[in-house]
Amino acid sequence: MPQEAFVELVERALWLKSAGYTGNHYLEGIVAGMVFFNPSLRTKTSLAAGLARLGGTAIDLTVGQGTYAFEFAEGAIMDGATQEHIKEAAPVLSQYCDVLGVRSSELITRGSDTGKSSDTWAEARKDIVLRSFAKYATVPVVNLESNMYHPCQGLGDALTLREQFGKTQGRKYVLTWAYHPKPLPTATPHSQLMQAIDMGCDVALAFPEGWDLDNEVISAANARAAQAGGSLTLSHSMEEAAQGADIICAKSWGAISHYGDWDTEKSVRDGLKHWIVDDAIMARTNNAKFMHCLPVRRNVVVVDSVLDSSKSIVVQQAGNRMHAQNALLLSILGRWPGQSVAASPGPNEKH
Ligand code: CP
Repeated sequence: MPQEAFVELVERALWLKSAGYTGNHYLEGIVAGMVFFNPSLRTKTSLAAGLARLGGTAIDLTVGQGTYAFEFAEGAIMDGATQEHIKEAAPVLSQYCDVLGVRSSELITRGSDTGKSSDTWAEARKDIVLRSFAKYATVPVVNLESNMYHPCQGLGDALTLREQFGKTQGRKYVLTWAYHPKPLPTATPHSQLMQAIDMGCDVALAFPEGWDLDNEVISAANARAAQAGGSLTLSHSMEEAAQGADIICAKSWGAISHYGDWDTEKSVRDGLKHWIVDDAIMARTNNAKFMHCLPVRRNVVVVDSVLDSSKSIVVQQAGNRMHAQNALLLSILGRWPGQSVAASPGPNEKH
């Protein structure tokens, strides 16, 4: 999505949240199929709740729990665990649903017979599951977290920044890696980085050596920073990056450089337990707010005294997922009330 379109969508989400939902059945008659290969608390519930509030319906299709195990490979001889090819599943679902949401992150499905498992990052980053749905579905497909991106998280976080600061240009946004006992996906930090860039923030990305994000994402972030009026700096020190920050957003991810070799990755990662957001880190900031996508491991990623303080906006951040996704659905389904935010009724007007 172009940077200007992203900012426009954030404004729409802000307007939608302000307008409230009473009587606003903009998604009446809309049916969404939610295909989840991975667990979810926020994404699944916020999507279903958001649809319900706007008069639509969401159907939960949790793969492996009441659906068949899908196959994605071209020419597959399906005499193993997989039972239904995406070539039939996606167009069939498209006849029942107006939009499909898909969550498929291999680092979480690894070992399951209902997901896909790549040995290399080069393979995983192709996002075969999501792209297969997009290829064979005849309705719009929304990425609810793939291997590469978690755009709904990015959009919700951008709404939170917009609410917090009004003007986001010139704000220092720190996205810092934090220790976690598992190699988590890179999709969320990729989208968190891109949203802060698109919002024109001065972004400091902090991570241990060897934990670089995907090269293509970093290149895109650098290119778009200039367009949005912000900047991107990389650091291998959480302490250094936190200096003067307006936001500290913590996130853990697995090392792409060790992708597939998780025993080696773990042996290095286990030496990085000091990468935790604590009061000393927050003391270096410009009275920063703390963000995290959730779920968060307390006293591993961030200490209680930060998470339980007024600096933490993680609950508001999660709440904004619903408004952001509703704005996205209204836009892609052509249900937005008016051609543009400027032309739409304001939050206090009748509509
Ligand atoms: N942040 C997020 O996507 O949460 P869930 O995994 O609970 O959906």
